[in-house]
Amino acid sequence: MTDSSAWNPESWKAAQARHLPAYADAEALGRVEATLAKFPPLVFAGEARALKADLANVAAGKGFLLQGGDCAESFAEFHPDNIRDTFRVLLQMAVVLTFAGKQPVVKVGRMAGQFAKPRSAPTETQAGVELPSYLGDIINGIEFDAEARRNDPERMLRAYSQAAATLNLLRAFSTGGYANLRQVHKWTLDHIARSPWAEKFSATADRIGEALDFMAACGVDPGTVPQLQGTSFYTSHEALLLPYEQALTRRDSLTGEWYDCSAHMLWIGDRTRFAGSAHVEFLRGVGNPIGMKCGPSLAPDALLALLDALNPAREPGRITLISRFGDDKVEAGLAPLARAVKREGHPVVWSCDPMHGNIVKADSGYKTRPFDRILREVKGFFAVHRAEGTHAGGIHVEMTGQDVTECTGGLVDVTEARLADRYHTHCDPRLNAAQSIELAFLLAEMLNLEAADRGRKAA
Ligand code: PEP
Ligand code: CO
Repeated sequence: MTDSSAWNPESWKAAQARHLPAYADAEALGRVEATLAKFPPLVFAGEARALKADLANVAAGKGFLLQGGDCAESFAEFHPDNIRDTFRVLLQMAVVLTFAGKQPVVKVGRMAGQFAKPRSAPTETQAGVELPSYLGDIINGIEFDAEARRNDPERMLRAYSQAAATLNLLRAFSTGGYANLRQVHKWTLDHIARSPWAEKFSATADRIGEALDFMAACGVDPGTVPQLQGTSFYTSHEALLLPYEQALTRRDSLTGEWYDCSAHMLWIGDRTRFAGSAHVEFLRGVGNPIGMKCGPSLAPDALLALLDALNPAREPGRITLISRFGDDKVEAGLAPLARAVKREGHPVVWSCDPMHGNIVKADSGYKTRPFDRILREVKGFFAVHRAEGTHAGGIHVEMTGQDVTECTGGLVDVTEARLADRYHTHCDPRLNAAQSIELAFLLAEMLNLEAADRGRKAA
């Protein structure tokens, strides 16, 4: 890794890049980069710093990170109802988690920019025809024909405009009245209204309503408390497509530091976090909070070297480590990492991605994730942190507000036979709304136990 003084927004170009698309027309790419570089930033540096401060609290054991959204956003699924429904399921999950954990929940969408995908194989073969793999709508198209699968830099402009419109709606929802806690009953989606989780959610909502009434009776007017009127909601995506990220990287006029203004938080994927990687080189120089996926191939020493590169000043809130081992590997794999990070005193948020280590292929050929394996990984994650004396600080999920049938299981059981009914994802299988809320209630039980532990220690 190069030393920090040598960083600039394009210093990644001299490092080893994996999973970056080749563009046949370099001039067209240059034109798009120049256009993007003149477009307004999507977020401001001050907002990224606010998220970092919220995450610093989580790193100190005083909060929980909820990060979720599509595996891959797509041009085809771009619709206000989809944005609203994902947003409201995240709000419902956050309410359940806040209520149980008695701690602030930091809400971050995998939204408004989560377009580019690393793929395990460079090509895909169907009926004897081999074409380049689909790399996400910001790079090429999902249709299986040669023209769609061509890498087209112009797609970055469409992705930018979709991200801007999505972010605009999210900002309106989070501060324009929709997220007011008085509305909590109205967030339940019609298509899960009859599920057992809707009833359980309604009971939580009743208790929140009572708490607000109680506060009002005591003379605190909830109408004047901004935290009850709306919420902070942040965006994030994997910073994979570096030409796009570089074009949206700007120098903050207040501090003079560089920020990647395509989202509040960016993360490095499990396939691009190796030593000397272009993605690590790029992200080490921007001031945003940074996530990093930690999978089975990451050794404790390699993790410590990456932490030194990405956060030499050991700034709390800067780094979120997102473990994704698989239900059978999490306990053995995560414990040595958590121990090493604690020993070296790196202030990180530990978050659990129970999705990417638990992909299986159903007999029908669909990629799916069994809900019980997802739960087992979450439980293993909590068990490790309990044993190591570290804070189980967050959850990272691929989910949607839609009633899809992509992950099997859950109380409203999705069977393998039903996967074909509504399998809409552009990449990995997502939890549907009912499964997401079910997961939130199960997480709530674990957070309750942690809160009780804290209470005992304080007493
Ligand atoms: C993802 O989060 O969509 C992803 C590709 O994850 P990972 O890098 O952990 O495989
Ligand atoms: Co995914």
